[in-house]
Amino acid sequence: MHPMLNIAVRAARNAGKIIANSFEEQDKIETEQKGGNDFVTNIDREAEFAIINTIRKSYPDHCIIGEESGEHKGENPDYVWIVDPLDGTTNFIKGIPHFCVSIALRVKGKLDQAVIYDPMRAELFTASRGAGAQLNDYRIRCSKAKDIDVTVLATGFPHKCKHHLDAYLGMFKDFFIEASDIRRSGSAALDLAYVAAGRVDGFWEIGLKPWDTAAGQLMVKEAGGLITDFVGGPNQDKSGNIIAGNSKVTRAMVKTIRPHLTEALAK
Ligand code: IPD
Ligand code: CA
Ligand code: CA
Repeated sequence: MHPMLNIAVRAARNAGKIIANSFEEQDKIETEQKGGNDFVTNIDREAEFAIINTIRKSYPDHCIIGEESGEHKGENPDYVWIVDPLDGTTNFIKGIPHFCVSIALRVKGKLDQAVIYDPMRAELFTASRGAGAQLNDYRIRCSKAKDIDVTVLATGFPHKCKHHLDAYLGMFKDFFIEASDIRRSGSAALDLAYVAAGRVDGFWEIGLKPWDTAAGQLMVKEAGGLITDFVGGPNQDKSGNIIAGNSKVTRAMVKTIRPHLTEALAK
C-alpha cells in the first residue's frame, strides 16, 4: 500500500471509531445548524480533529482542507488533503446507520489517494492513482451496464439548494421512467464508492462540495468509470454538479440531463 494511503486509512479508522462509538450513545450527540438544511455535530468536529492530527503527525508540511475547520496551510502546497469527517450527517443524527469518512489526497492538482470508510459495516474503500480501487483489499470495478434501462441509479436531492428543484424533478422523472429504480442514500461519498463497486450503476447530484466527492471521484475512475459535470465536461469540482458511472452510463446520463439544464446548471 502507498505510504500516504496507509496514513489516510489510519486517519479514517480513527475517525470511524469515534463516530461508531457515539452512534451507540445518541444522547452525547450535540447538533447545530450551519445553514439551510445543513447540520453539524460535535462528532463531525471530533472526527475531523482526529483525522487532521493523524495526517499532521506523518506529514506536518502538507495542506489540509477540512469541511468543518476549513483550510490548514502547510509549507508544501503540492500536497492537499481533502477531508469530509462524516458524510451523511443527517443519517447519523437520525440514527440511520449509513454514513462514512471520506479522505482524499491531491498531489500537484491531481487526485492521488482516496479512502471512504463505512464504520458501521466495516467497509473500507481505497484507491491509488493508477493502481485501481479496492473494497477491503479486493479489487472493485464499476458495473458493466450498457443502457440506462437496466440500471439502478443513486442520487442526492438538492435539499441545500431548493431553487434547483424544478430542474431536478425534470431529470428525476426522466431517469425514473428510463432506469429500473433509483436510490437516495444520504451519503454522496458512499454513493460514489457504490458506483465504483458496481452496487449502483450511476449517480447524479446537484451542488456538492469538493470534500463530498474528492475521494469518490478517484475511486470511480480507478474502478474504470467516468465522472463528468452536467454537460459532459470536467468541471464537476467548480460547478458541484456531478455524474458518475461506467463510461456508457455516464454518457447516457448526460443526454438525459441535457433538456433539463438551466443556465446555472449548464456551467
Ligand atoms: C451531504 C451528503 C448528502 C448530500 C449532501 C451532502 P454531509 O454531506 O453527502 O448525501 O445530498 O448534499 O452535503 O453534510 O452529510 O457531509
Ligand atoms: Ca459531505
Ligand atoms: Ca460532512
